[in-house]
Amino acid sequence: MQSTTLAGAFDDLADSYDHRHHEEIARALIAWVAPGPADAVADVACGAGAVARQLAQSRPDTARPVLAVDLSPGMIAVGRARAADVERATAIDWRVADAVPLPVADRSLDVVLCASSLHFLGRRAPADWRRALRPGGRVGFTLPLATHFRPSERFSGHLARDVPLPHTAQEASVWAAECGFAEAASRVLVLGTRRVVVTSAREPGGR
Ligand SMILES: C[S@@+](CC[C@H](N)C(=O)[O-])C[C@H]1O[C@@H](n2cnc3c(N)ncnc32)[C@H](O)[C@@H]1O
Repeated sequence: MQSTTLAGAFDDLADSYDHRHHEEIARALIAWVAPGPADAVADVACGAGAVARQLAQSRPDTARPVLAVDLSPGMIAVGRARAADVERATAIDWRVADAVPLPVADRSLDVVLCASSLHFLGRRAPADWRRALRPGGRVGFTLPLATHFRPSERFSGHLARDVPLPHTAQEASVWAAECGFAEAASRVLVLGTRRVVVTSAREPGGR
């Protein structure tokens, strides 16, 4: 029987997840935001942890663990198995939990990254990222381009109504600014027949 919860739907998907597609998105997101090697980073709604694992692979042994949070135990289990190649067992701090709010203190993160998940989380997520980021900290997220998004019936019912999918890179930057971020910059990533908007921005401080 198929689960009707969002976590259950992703648990069911975990073993057949399109890792190649999400690895490419993770690579583009990390390149667009370019976190520093010692930055405190969260991978929000990490799924199988494409972002967390790629980051962890390139960080020094002394770096603090990348926080990787997801609702789906099945996706986290796949992520843990796939991250076995990361040398330090503590390089990723995996958590099965709602990613909103993030389990961190106010102003404690340097970078928040969120790949292919914001449209499930809703606008409460960027509000929480502003709480969690230090002033000047950076955020990066990806969203599917509205014109190319074809969610299955199973997932369409779980989409947040308060996150508008962008039709252009510019729309994504405008929305990031509406959420309170500064210096938003976006680009469209072409992946076969799919299109994804990648956005980076900065927490301006002064809240
Ligand atoms: C399309 S997947 C993307 C996963 C991953 N970021 C990637 O790039 O492969 C969406 C993920 O969002 C997670 N998710 C949705 N809502 C969530 C929430 N409120 N808290 C934590 N995870 C959530 C799902 O469990 C799923 O793993």
